Amino acid sequence: MSIIEYKVEDACAILTWNDAGRPMNVLTGDALAELSAGVERAVADDAVKGIILTSGRDGVFVAGGDLEQIEKMGSGPIDAEEMLRRTGAVLAQLRRMETCGKPIVAALNGVTLGGGFELALACHHRILVDAPYAKVGLPEAGMGLMPGAGGTQRLPRLIGVQGALGLILEGKQLRPDQALEKGLVDEVVPAAELIPAAKKWIAEAGEDAAVQPWDRKGFKVPGGGPESPTFAQTFMGSNAMIHASTYGNFPHAKAILSAVYEGLALPIDRAGKVETRYFITLMQGPVARNMLRTLFFSMQSAQKGARRPKGFDRFEVRKLGVLGAGLMGAGVAYAAANAKLDVVLLDRDQAAADKGKQYSETRLQKQLARGRMTEEKVAEVLGRIHPTTRYEDLAGCDVVVEAVFEDRGVKATVTKQAYAQLGPDAIFGTNTSGLPISELAEASPRPESFIGMHFFSPVERMQLVEVIRGKQTSDETLAKTYDFLRKIKKVPIVVNDARNFYTSRVFGTYITQGFSMLLEGVKPALIENAGKTSGMPMPPLSLADEVGLDLMVHAGDQLRKDLGDEYDPGVNAPILDALVRERGRHGRKNGKGFYAYDDGGKRLWSGLGELFPVRDTQPDPAEVERRYVFAQCVETARAIEDGVIESVEDCDVGAILGWGFAPFTGGPCSYMDTFGIAAFVAEADRLADKYGKGYFEPPKLLRTMAAEGKTFY
Ligand code: NAI
Repeated sequence: MSIIEYKVEDACAILTWNDAGRPMNVLTGDALAELSAGVERAVADDAVKGIILTSGRDGVFVAGGDLEQIEKMGSGPIDAEEMLRRTGAVLAQLRRMETCGKPIVAALNGVTLGGGFELALACHHRILVDAPYAKVGLPEAGMGLMPGAGGTQRLPRLIGVQGALGLILEGKQLRPDQALEKGLVDEVVPAAELIPAAKKWIAEAGEDAAVQPWDRKGFKVPGGGPESPTFAQTFMGSNAMIHASTYGNFPHAKAILSAVYEGLALPIDRAGKVETRYFITLMQGPVARNMLRTLFFSMQSAQKGARRPKGFDRFEVRKLGVLGAGLMGAGVAYAAANAKLDVVLLDRDQAAADKGKQYSETRLQKQLARGRMTEEKVAEVLGRIHPTTRYEDLAGCDVVVEAVFEDRGVKATVTKQAYAQLGPDAIFGTNTSGLPISELAEASPRPESFIGMHFFSPVERMQLVEVIRGKQTSDETLAKTYDFLRKIKKVPIVVNDARNFYTSRVFGTYITQGFSMLLEGVKPALIENAGKTSGMPMPPLSLADEVGLDLMVHAGDQLRKDLGDEYDPGVNAPILDALVRERGRHGRKNGKGFYAYDDGGKRLWSGLGELFPVRDTQPDPAEVERRYVFAQCVETARAIEDGVIESVEDCDVGAILGWGFAPFTGGPCSYMDTFGIAAFVAEADRLADKYGKGYFEPPKLLRTMAAEGKTFY
């Protein structure tokens, strides 16, 4: 079956890309071969004045490169020769397009990303549809990759180095108005005018329309190329900024900078080879492959419901009930109303319920002010949220999410009241942070329909939801939960009901390492800095301040009550006692925690030194980083061994999306694989001997894997 349809209209050859064999149009070798053939046919046809490249896919031009191919290449040793040949062929095809002698216009009918946009950059003119679904950009950096089909060379030559670097390094995707403003496209038109506008451009095209700016005599990079003094300054600035925010953990950022810097000094043909060299080097390292696997493939398969129990019809969710209109409830209501669900937002009194709706209003008004939303859309979304105190309003809800206080008694009361209004098909999800789901389910008349839905704050920004199966939760309820979360655009991972579930359990070890080192006499500044350089989004003591030291005390008290004699106060209790109980330091919320907060910002609290004396010899920062990463990895392996979490993909997706575990590793399981399981076990044993078996002793699972030469992936 052909991928690209060829027809001639009004002296224009129209090449329409529609890869029916794939869910999306992507830049494959087959598609490119057909494209090249189409271009040659048009070039040879005297009746054709110019070429229009467009797509037959609704809302999508070309979504990107063939990531499956890239992942396949990355899953074994890289055949650099083969990659060089393939990428070289793609570059040659694009180069032939822009030098074929006839003008080519890209009529972009929607999503134009990555390889798709690189293809459009090799056309002489770009017209983009004016539609909310249209996005343009080079998002490769988000997956630890870089553009590999000329994007690092053509974009800076088109819009200037500074603008291009910002877009490529951040992997930004632009809306039509932004793309036009930044010069990524030349025109933005309504859908019906896309092809007519393309034809018009060709009809009016002058002699040199088929020549790219960079092939014209005397071409200079907009804003200054290698000949200008600002050029070097831009790179010095970018290099410093990248290092300050990523600590050298992301090789793709350096590769992008180098490719642009070196490539711009060369003619475009040779510049492409520079890009290819960096691209291949990147693919040979573990970072790109691990990030791509977790942040693209595993995340997508989690979202699409790879682990959704089979055999249940899709659950249509139209009406959602939310119990508790506090921070979390308000966030869930906002996410759901944006996804076109009717939301009943219930609290103890009307003022609290209204305040929960206000949360959406504030955010929508911000979007409106930024021009990202219309007045009508704001009214429409707000119109879907019904704040109330009346349980009867929950009648007809397909799903209820409970987000009242973290208190067993309160949760039981609202659960009973809500169920009294629900039909037999409705499901009930509790957003508890850590209470056992199976116990909370006792308040439900249908415990099989009761499940944990652990959202993260702020709900509208955090994609992850940790779904917790109680002992009695049915497969059908799990399937319905998947359908609900997909509808509100969340990424679910599934775990079993055990203390702290998966995310909090593993993440907690990071903070505990920070606390432990404080007691050992490690300098607080070293504890904090190494947290950042290890790749975590926030250092451990800062994080504890944000969570609230008082809340950590309460959690400890609850644990002591629940576990009785088995309770181990560990390192947290003495530190929290000293700060919270004895000195009233509750964290950021009262301006006093590990840090002192005032209008000028925050500084490590000067009293820490007296409470936790610093010892004379300090550890190497690399050792501190290793403790953070290893503690989390060992705990992940333990959670797998304990049966808390079953899917390795879920472990990695949950770690990165849930608590920001060093994304360049691809997640804890990817990290252990990359380190080598046997080497990991040996290193964990060393750390266990030195800093405590409780934190680092590898579980049997890892030892067996090491002995049998197994890996997680
Ligand atoms: P919050 O204190 O901001 O909101 C709780 C809301 O529940 C309040 O508006 C309160 O008036 C309402 N409420 C209390 N009793 C009620 C009753 N009997 N009937 C109706 N409404 C009632 O708390 P937040 O932070 O939103 O947490 C809610 C739940 O989500 C808790 O179980 C918490 O552990 C969990 N959670 C919190 C996260 C966070 O980052 N804050 C993250 C994940 C879970």
